[in-house]
Formats: sequence, structure tokens, C-alpha cells
Amino acid sequence: MATKSKPGNRPLGIFDSGIGGLTVANAIHELLPEENLVYFGDTAHLPYGDKSPEAIKKWSVAISDFLMTHNCKMIVIACNSISSVAYDTVKKHIGSKAIVVNVIDPVVEYVVNQAALKHVGVIGTKATIKTDIYASKLKDRNKKLSVNSLATPLLAPMIEEGFFNNKISKTIINDYLSRPKLKNIDSLILGCTHYPLIRPEIEQFYKGKVTIFDTARIVAHHVQWLLDENNLFNSGSTKKHRFFISDFTPAFEQSTKIFFKGKVKLEQKNLWK
Ligand code: DGL
Repeated sequence: MATKSKPGNRPLGIFDSGIGGLTVANAIHELLPEENLVYFGDTAHLPYGDKSPEAIKKWSVAISDFLMTHNCKMIVIACNSISSVAYDTVKKHIGSKAIVVNVIDPVVEYVVNQAALKHVGVIGTKATIKTDIYASKLKDRNKKLSVNSLATPLLAPMIEEGFFNNKISKTIINDYLSRPKLKNIDSLILGCTHYPLIRPEIEQFYKGKVTIFDTARIVAHHVQWLLDENNLFNSGSTKKHRFFISDFTPAFEQSTKIFFKGKVKLEQKNLWK
């Protein structure tokens, strides 16, 4: 049989509100370098963290349809805000055409398996924290866990603008992490795909006393497991990844270098004409 017709040789689709989801794309690329990626960042509508669930659902369905025009075998929702409010909608919409992965369930699964942890903190956008999705999923799995969630809406735009590892980011991060809600935590979930970029600053704040979980690597391992389970590894040629955004600016192209370690050539695709 010609390798071209194998279902596993289709690309992996990944999408986010902007370029923060590239942290997930980067982790997948590092773990599974033979896979072809098609990425879409909805920079025209960014940030999603402040938008209504209705709007996020509508845009996510349109983006998923676009990714399916590339015949993706899997769609990875590389954004906590979208995963919180639109995962079921996207999954139902795509049906059996592709596997749909969100970034929350793999992290919940990972965290509940860390037996020593009792007081989990979560930081994320307003959209994610408003759903209280991490707390309800974690407590479903382990009633004894205490989970405290804090919306940290300045962080994603701050990172998109390249403000990290400097005085301004340190002040904002320290202010959020000092809030009473996060006072007694022993672990912290970075519930936004932008946050791996500020992980070193968060680690500096906690000085090793709090375990930090970021979505990117955990999700990449989950994707690897799913591809294995479903016999969907790419055995064909590895082509260039494709990166689409809905509104191109040179600033986004510049920022991609921070989020994705390989070469990124952004292509503009306006789905909202
Ligand atoms: N990357 C998104 C997330 O993980 C946040 C960015 C946004 O608000 O658009 O929630």
C-alpha cells in the first residue's frame, strides 16, 4: 500500500487565539519531530480570554473547518480559554473525522496522579477561570484536593507584547502570585498556553517550594500516546509546517521566535471576510 494513503500521514492541526499556542506546537514538534503541523492563530480576535463563550465557540468551529481543509488527523485546541468553553462544541462538530484534544484533561489526569499534592493553585484567563473547569475536574477525580483559581488577565497580553523576564513582568507576576487566594498552595497549574514563557519567573518567585505544571509538555506526551493508541504516527515524508494567522503584523512574526524554536513563516488567512 502506498504510504500516502495512510491515515497517520495526515498532519496534526493545532489552534489558539494567537501565538501562545505555539508553546504547545513547539513541545509537540520537539517530542514528535516527524509529524507535520498545521497551526492557526486567530490574531484578529485575540485575546479570547475576555470574549463571550458564544463568540469563542463560533470562531473555534470555523477554525476547525479550516484545519480540516488540510485533512488533519487530529485537532489540538492549544488554548485553555477555548478548551474551557468550546471543546464539546468542536468535538461534536468534527465527529469522527479527526481526534479532538483539549489542553485541560491531560493536565488534570497528570496532576491527580501526583499523590503528594493537596493544595492546587490555577492561574489563567478570565474565560478559563470563570468556568472553574480545573477545580471541578480535579475534584471529580480527587475530592480531598483543595483547588484555588485566580484570573490573571494581564499576563497573556503582556507576554504577546514581549514583556517577560524584565522588571515590568516581575512586578505583575509577583503581584498576582502574592494574592491571598494562592497563599497556601503546594502546586500551580499554568492554565494558559502563554505561561510557559514566564515559567522561570514564576519558579523564581516560589524558590522551589511549589511544583509548577505547564500544559505544553504534558499535552505533547498525551498527543504522542493518542497517536500510538490509534496507530496514527506519520510514516510518510516530513514536510514544512504551516503557520496561519488571521491578521498579520510584523510584531507577531517577531514574537513567534520566542514561542517556537524552529523556523516559522506566517501566512495570513482571513476566515472572517
Ligand atoms: N492562549 C490562551 C489560553 O490558553 C490565552 C490567550 C487569550 O486570552 O487569547 O487561555
